[in-house]
Amino acid sequence: MKPKKVFPSAITIFGAKGDLTRRKLIPALYNLYIENRLPEAFTIYCVDFLTVDMDAFRNDLLGGINEFSRNGKADPKQWETFAERICYLQGDFTHPDTYTQLKSKLDEFDMKTEKRGIRMFYFAVAPRFIEVIAEALYTHKLCNKAALDRIVVEKPFGSDLNTAKKLNRFLAKRFAEKQIYRIDHYLGKETVQNIMAFRFANYVFEPLWNKKYIDHVQISVAEQVGVGKRGGYYDSSGALRDMIQNHLMQLLCIVAMECPGAYDAEKIRDAKTKVMKDVRPFTPTDVFKNVIRAQYTAGEVNSAVVPSYREEAQVSSKSNTETFAAMRLFIDNERWEGVPFFMRTGKSMTRQSSVIVIQFKDSPHKIFKDDVVPNRLLISIQPELEISLLFESKVPGLDMKLLPVEMDFMYQDAYKESLPEAYEALLLDVLEGDATLFMRADQVEAAWKVVMPIIDTWKKYPAKQLRLYKAGTWGPDAATTLLKPYAKDWFRLSN
Ligand code: BG6
Repeated sequence: MKPKKVFPSAITIFGAKGDLTRRKLIPALYNLYIENRLPEAFTIYCVDFLTVDMDAFRNDLLGGINEFSRNGKADPKQWETFAERICYLQGDFTHPDTYTQLKSKLDEFDMKTEKRGIRMFYFAVAPRFIEVIAEALYTHKLCNKAALDRIVVEKPFGSDLNTAKKLNRFLAKRFAEKQIYRIDHYLGKETVQNIMAFRFANYVFEPLWNKKYIDHVQISVAEQVGVGKRGGYYDSSGALRDMIQNHLMQLLCIVAMECPGAYDAEKIRDAKTKVMKDVRPFTPTDVFKNVIRAQYTAGEVNSAVVPSYREEAQVSSKSNTETFAAMRLFIDNERWEGVPFFMRTGKSMTRQSSVIVIQFKDSPHKIFKDDVVPNRLLISIQPELEISLLFESKVPGLDMKLLPVEMDFMYQDAYKESLPEAYEALLLDVLEGDATLFMRADQVEAAWKVVMPIIDTWKKYPAKQLRLYKAGTWGPDAATTLLKPYAKDWFRLSN
């Protein structure tokens, strides 16, 4: 268990009435609280423009915990003591009064605790408010102690390379880089963090982790959910910006990075950024050959009828936005020269399944009569939490007959405790000043650089090669063809 930090902490959430606060942030903070991971003295200021009744607001947050917390319903006594720390501040993000009000609350907290504590400002807001709030925090000197004050910025971090650069520059003029926590919640997932441990604490795999032994890699994040109520945001984003530029690129970095030399935020982020910089740039021809985009049509997901993407709320009926993207890319460095990395993600697919498959090469030694199935390492991120290695074994009996079998590590068998949610790990890291699982400015820009040629090409030819797939399927056939001749299909645990 990490040592408990004694620093008083004032947590401010901008966008307190939003979905993220109710579904993720408050349940995560509550779980940290009941597990005794928050400091003795802490307070949560929830800021939003709506006028609320305090009891109704707290009850709504309680409802969020009861519905979404991994620990189930909140314990009434613990909730009561936790809820006392929650304070709602009604205020417009664009109005100076909001920050004057907040300042007096923060000062009050410091006086009460007799110490200038940690300040975390969480931007759970639409992108248009990021600069507004950052500027106000800066001018009101609310976030001006580099060692104690931090801002947490949710994705999307920019909508392309230029806007990301502009935002980075804007924030850099007001805060030190170590005060800026750019969140990608995939990095907080237990199974994603474990990939680092798996790769770098088990020397047995390291000698094999390269072009000599690895045939190809698949990174697939399939979602069953559609765009739901987020059509307005999603229609100007699409799968490439919403998932690939951030979550899938981060997974790619962890799989492909060099050993960082130390478990240190800067070294790890250096190693990841290096991967992004080594990705072979896509030419417009590559985009049409090696990148597939598609959109779902009406279908059935999990026995429920779902509309086509173009019929979703707040989505243009002529939209060419992709709800599915798949690609083949190469990393031009010594370790990965010539090894294809396949990535795909999509909404309204058959089932949720996030998996990474490391497909090893065929054995050059053919001493058996049977065909040998090459080894495969599967890292399943969600909903199944497991790592398994496929290897050949002799079928018991009098003949030398081979069949592949699996060696499995399943979280549920190895550990009895429920796993912390990504946001629990990440919020605690912010309070403790650990940026290892957050994206540095150059990393975000490097990831945008990889996808920019795709964005530009699609912008130039908005409808060209936009495929359709029926909701409730695994996506368009073209995404499967992309794998050839490396694999017949995308790996899946089951239908
Ligand atoms: C978010 C995307 O960042 O990640 C969503 O904006 C997506 O569109 C979500 O559904 C997926 O997260 P998870 O943790 O459910 O895999």
